[in-house]
Amino acid sequence: MPETARAKITALGAYVPPRVLTNQDLEKIVETTDQWILERTGIRERHVADKGIAASDLAVEAVKNLVKSHPMDLQEIDLIVVGTVTPDMMYPSTACLVQHKLGIHHTWGFDVSAGCSGFLYALNVGTEFIESGRYRKVLVIGSDVNTSMVNYEDRAVCIIFGDGAGAVLLEPANEGDDNVIVDHVAQVEGAGGAFLYMPGGGSLNPASPETVAKKMHYIHQDGQQVFKYAVKKMAEMTERVLERNQLTGADVDCFIAHQANKRIITATADRLKMPMEKVIINIDRYGNTTAGTIPLAMQSAVEEGKLKPGDTVLLAAVGAGFTSGATLLRWGF
Ligand code: COA
Repeated sequence: MPETARAKITALGAYVPPRVLTNQDLEKIVETTDQWILERTGIRERHVADKGIAASDLAVEAVKNLVKSHPMDLQEIDLIVVGTVTPDMMYPSTACLVQHKLGIHHTWGFDVSAGCSGFLYALNVGTEFIESGRYRKVLVIGSDVNTSMVNYEDRAVCIIFGDGAGAVLLEPANEGDDNVIVDHVAQVEGAGGAFLYMPGGGSLNPASPETVAKKMHYIHQDGQQVFKYAVKKMAEMTERVLERNQLTGADVDCFIAHQANKRIITATADRLKMPMEKVIINIDRYGNTTAGTIPLAMQSAVEEGKLKPGDTVLLAAVGAGFTSGATLLRWGF
């Protein structure tokens, strides 16, 4: 058996499609106002993929941006893990499509379905593979085109989502390097499935004229239930991972949460007594990009000088399922 190792994030890339949909644009589509959206969610605008652009396309662009900032031979990648709930199609997996589009040979990969926790869960999976000692270069990607599942007549849902993707490279840390993925906690509670789901197109309700007529191919959401659960669970998961590592919010240099609603993020930060300058918020520019939010927020944090080598970073997400999780790491580059 190979020796076990700690996993480390060594590179980052993110991507959003160029087309921007502002709150003012949405005012022309549904009965809403810029002020309502901004006050209730913190979102000003979001990027939307054009027709024909799918999750694998955004993922590929994110990986290309990763390579631009961290030149490397992609042929060395031995595993691709993609967090997504908007795969290009039911199968093949998005990971297979990304492998093919990037022309990476001698690798394997698969998708992780965890709603808005998709990137965090993919990161957990990638970390375990590095820690097994068998894998040395793992691409972890979060990519979603959730606007393709949005009913633009449902004002409580269509204002939230944007499209985007991000990718990190995981490698084994060198001996003595403590800028590693330190720990993670995660939990699923399937009873919450009824509050955020897409009922059509799966094996229960295969696509048919009837499922389309009933709008079953769209996101169905009970926003208040999701909101309440997210506030409670994000606090619980972050506290759990901090406590078991004998840390408090005061020890965290950078808090990067899934960007679903600004009020969910600030409620968690308040509970952890974290000043807002340590909290990364870019939901105003991107909306909720599902599995894309955390790597996109990492990218914003790096660009804004809020994420530096050696920083203690707390990641957290809650998503459809319900899924939730929190990850503690020290930034390495
Ligand atoms: N513009 C104007 N009014 C709107 C609106 C919009 N876009 N969407 C809903 N409303 C109205 C509702 O119809 C309701 O009107 P009523 O009081 O006359 O019935 C009122 O605003 C309040 O609706 P409510 O659902 O209580 O609003 P809210 O404060 O809970 O905000 C969300 C709605 C969706 C923004 C909020 O619940 C949320 O962010 N939930 C979490 C969603 C999420 O994170 N999903 C992704 C999962 S990771």
